[in-house]
This record gives sequence, structure tokens and C-alpha cells, in this order.
Amino acid sequence: MDSLASACGKSFLCGEHAVVYGVPALAVPLPDLRAEAQVKSIIGPCRIMAPDLDLDLQVNPHDPDPHPLVTTVLSALGHFEQPLPDATITVSSQIPIGRGLGSGSAISAAIFRALAGFYGLEPAKAEELAFIHQIDTIYHGRPSGIDGAVVSHERALRFVRGEKPVFLDLPTGWSLLIADSGISSPTHLMVNGLRERYDQAPHRYDLLMTAIGALSRQVEIALKTDAMRIVGRLLNRNQALLNELGVSTPRIEELAQTARDAGALGAKLSGAGGGGVVIALTQGQPEQNQEILAAWQAKGVERSWSVDY
Ligand code: PMV
Repeated sequence: MDSLASACGKSFLCGEHAVVYGVPALAVPLPDLRAEAQVKSIIGPCRIMAPDLDLDLQVNPHDPDPHPLVTTVLSALGHFEQPLPDATITVSSQIPIGRGLGSGSAISAAIFRALAGFYGLEPAKAEELAFIHQIDTIYHGRPSGIDGAVVSHERALRFVRGEKPVFLDLPTGWSLLIADSGISSPTHLMVNGLRERYDQAPHRYDLLMTAIGALSRQVEIALKTDAMRIVGRLLNRNQALLNELGVSTPRIEELAQTARDAGALGAKLSGAGGGGVVIALTQGQPEQNQEILAAWQAKGVERSWSVDY
């Protein structure tokens, strides 16, 4: 049965990096930024197409160095105990790659869901989560699992490493604006760099991590009471601490300040830092959002996104 499925991206609200040290982080789904996979029967060999990436691949299970999309499809087929289908699998995504917005997890989830639909299967959530984690582990070393959890459940959550995530009910009537800094910085380099600094001065960094954990708890309470102005201020404080951790950059600081000056309630980096994206929290008014997006554009931002809640 031809099948189409999608999965959302994710953004941290608070607590990236500190989550590696055991403190809680909060992350939200990006329902308007999605990856999509379509499986269509054809006569002929199984192909994977990704027009955005200019990719048209014939799936060869014996390829010694397969493309990540091939690995993902073959792993999903293995999971469902299915042979290579006579089908074209088309993958597309609105989620920028390598910007910490959960693109990899979303693509894995979309492929898993589309292939399940193609075979008329309804796998359990736990199976999907395990699958996303398996693929993320191949390409990201030791992922904390937060991406997979948000993408799979499409729910905001509090995440503590090694514990079951706790879902959060988000208020409505606000937006998250996202600016691409234009600089990609591999997560593992940022994580390893911080680990080296931590090992030099564990007491100082433990204090910073604890302070970030406290912010995550306060953001959670502020979200519960729909106190978005307070959430914004807490995000600004989180950004100041991320700067102290050494994972911010002058460009990130500039884009965060630009958003605040243009009326954002708060702004910070999201993800590993060193580049990546800056997020800005707003009250969801379209004119205000436009003003911030325009201010970013005037500072040379080439790609930005707006997600409404
Ligand atoms: O931006 P991402 O999704 O690559 O995540 C980085 C988040 C860190 O906290 C720095 C690392 C992690 O595994 O949680």
C-alpha cells in the first residue's frame, strides 16, 4: 500500500549541554518543521530519492559504505523482517540538517512510519523510539535520546539522562522564531571541548550546570502558568550561562540580542552552540514576529523559521 508519513523537528528550550551532566533539559517539538517519507510501489529495484539533496540511489544491501538514508531504510526493513520492496522511497525535509533541530531523528521516524504504513503494520511507540535511537547512535555517537523522545512523541518534555521523559503541556498563543547562524559546528566537538574545560575546573562548571538545572525547573513552572514573559527572561539567563560554559559565539550573542531588541521575550542558542541556531520566544503576534525576522535578515541571516504554538 503506497504510504506517506512525516515527523516533526525539535528545539531545546533550556538545558542543553547541562543535560549531559545529569541536570534536566526541556525541549519542544517543532510541528511546522517536518521531515516526510513516501513509499510508492514501482516495477523495478528499490530506490531512495531525496530531491532536496539531489539524491537518487539504488538500494544495494551489499554496499560497504552505504549512504545514511540507505542504512536507515535497510535497518527499518530488517526491523519489519521485510525483503527489499519494489518501491521508491522519497525523503524530503523542511528541517535544516546539522543545526541541532532533530533533522536526523525526524528523517528516521518518517522513514520508519512510512515503511510501516506500506506493509500495513502498526509498530508500538517503544519500537519506533528504539529504532530512532539505533540510527542516531550510528551517526551521533552517544546521543542523550532527547531528540528521539521529542520527535517520536511530538510532545514537549523534561528530559533527564537515563530517566523516562516527563511530558509537559504547553500553553498556546506564542511563537518560537529560529535563525540559522550560518555556521555548522559538530555537536561532539562542542561536547568534548566543554568536557575538557570541565575537567580543568569541575567546581566552577558544576555550579554553572546546577544553575542551568534550576532554570529548567523554573521554565517548566512558568510554562505551566502561561507566564511567557518569565519564560523569556529565564531563556536569556540560560543564554548567559551557556556563554559562561564557552559554547556561545559573538555571532550567537549578536543574533540573540537583535531578537531581544526587536521585541522578543527572550533569546538563546538551541543545541550544541558554536554556531547552529538561535531561538527567540515571542508572544505570537505576526507583526512582531515579522519585525524580528526582518531584523535578523538585516544582520545577514539567510534562513529563518517561525513556529506557532
Ligand atoms: O543540538 P543537538 O541536538 O545536536 O544536541 C546537542 C545537545 C547537547 O546537550 C550539547 C548534547 C546532548 O547529547 O544532549
